[in-house]
Amino acid sequence: MILVTGASGHLAKAILQHLTQTGAAATGATRHPGSSDQLRALDFDVPATISFEGVETLVMVSAGTEEDDVVITRHNNAITAAERDGVRHIVYTSLTEAGDHLGFALAHRWTERRLQSGKAQWTILRNGLYAELIGHLLAPHEGVISAPFGHGGVAAVARQDLAEAAAIIARNPGIHGGRTYNLVGNIVITGQNIADTLGAEYRPVKLTELRQALDSTAMLPFQPPMLLSIHSAASHGFLEETGTDITDILGREPLNALHIAAAAATA
Ligand SMILES: NC(=O)c1ccc[n+]([C@@H]2O[C@H](COP(=O)([O-])OP(=O)(O)OC[C@H]3O[C@@H](n4cnc5c(N)ncnc54)[C@H](OP(=O)(O)O)[C@@H]3O)[C@@H](O)[C@H]2O)c1
Repeated sequence: MILVTGASGHLAKAILQHLTQTGAAATGATRHPGSSDQLRALDFDVPATISFEGVETLVMVSAGTEEDDVVITRHNNAITAAERDGVRHIVYTSLTEAGDHLGFALAHRWTERRLQSGKAQWTILRNGLYAELIGHLLAPHEGVISAPFGHGGVAAVARQDLAEAAAIIARNPGIHGGRTYNLVGNIVITGQNIADTLGAEYRPVKLTELRQALDSTAMLPFQPPMLLSIHSAASHGFLEETGTDITDILGREPLNALHIAAAAATA
């Protein structure tokens, strides 16, 4: 049986959908199972809730965006339980190779190392930044996109494509054992090309302008630097490398990330 964690999140939900549509024996686990008897209750923060009995392949969706020590403890709890319960293969949704400069990279890289030195077979999916997220960061207000994205861009990828890739690998994990895939998109999205698509104006601003604007929001102290690390890495050209792993796994070209980002920017 395949178990997908984080089943109330966007990515995990879409992975489960692909698995069930293709007839795979799969179920989900979440902190919020509600009244569903389809989903298991599981919280990586509470080791007593983590059971992977009967699970052969675990799709471990990275557990939210928090301080590094919180995420690392969560992931360690999950992997330790998987090893205890005899899970054969863990498919982990990590972060693109080019993302090492992002504020949330360390917890992903720690988790990759933990898997590589652990007892289960593993496959690491180094997911590119979601086109939906980039669209959200480049949303226009009154026809103007003001963001510290400079003139750089992101080889973003549709979350649906990442979900389908994870489902394809989870259905047939044996041939992907010990492999790391860099799942970035095949085009680069910039502030200017979102603006052109939407008929908006793009006005790149300084990082400090966004930081000051975030000061008046209810963000936790670690969140603004994490968020701004995306803008800084994009604007300085660190996220532009495109790739073909996603095409190879899906057996088709990825969805048009620019259209998806533009739709998210106006949602
Ligand atoms: N590549 C990107 O652009 C990008 C962007 C944002 C986030 N991410 C990462 O990718 C993951 C999936 O993305 P998403 O869009 O599905 O995010 P999302 O909709 O915000 O969902 C958050 C996910 O984190 C899980 N989670 C949080 N705390 C947990 C805990 N204590 N134990 C177990 N699971 C926990 C949630 O599981 P429940 O079902 O229990 O709520 C849910 O699957 C995120 O968690 C984050 O690590 C990637």
